[in-house]
Amino acid sequence: MERLDKRLASTGRWSRKEARELIRAGRVQVQGQVCRSIDQKVEEDALVAVDGASIGAAGPVYLMLHKPAGVVSATEDREEKTVLDLLPDPYPAMGLFPVGRLDKDTEGLLLLTNDGPLAHRLLAPKRHVDKVYYVEVDGILDQQDVEAVSQGIVLRDGYQCLPGKLELLEGNTSAYITIREGKYHQIKRMMAARGKPVSYLKRIRFGPLQLDPQLDKGGWRALTQEELQELFRQ
Ligand code: URA
Repeated sequence: MERLDKRLASTGRWSRKEARELIRAGRVQVQGQVCRSIDQKVEEDALVAVDGASIGAAGPVYLMLHKPAGVVSATEDREEKTVLDLLPDPYPAMGLFPVGRLDKDTEGLLLLTNDGPLAHRLLAPKRHVDKVYYVEVDGILDQQDVEAVSQGIVLRDGYQCLPGKLELLEGNTSAYITIREGKYHQIKRMMAARGKPVSYLKRIRFGPLQLDPQLDKGGWRALTQEELQELFRQ
């Protein structure tokens, strides 16, 4: 069940406020009956119409965003620009939210959806979805760091991370790092525990999704059918 005003707004054609005005004005029908109650809840498959015209099914939306630095992974924020501010209409009104968070200064792949059950599944701690990041550090990475990550780094607060993978890149000041959990500032804290603070971080993979190299920073696109199928298989 979902609120009628939310269902109307999820089409992107009206804001929640406009939807409530339509409902109060008696212009909205549910299963053929005029509904004037803004608190009304409707079934997912209920027939909803405005002025007699069906609004159609509110299908879920799945977008891949190349998050730039400087925006927060939230749906609203009083001071900061959010990832939803990067999307054109009608998306900001479709109830999208980021699946997990990237820090304000972290770039890269962020999945945005309004499919709550899928997001919940992907974020469930037991699910252990792989996330791969490109990381640059202040300092020189070495085999001891590789070993420590593969054992599971102990953070300065005593938390023992799950085993991950560190693949050193040329020069040993950058690497690919794979983690299977998503604790607050996790990679920054892992690298801090090694005495090699992160200077740049970018997520390049989330489960089966690879950051599309065609997407510039701030760019986005809908997931392809293949990507969606793989995501649902996770
Ligand atoms: N780890 C971090 O420290 N920051 C992120 O944004 C993601 C993972």
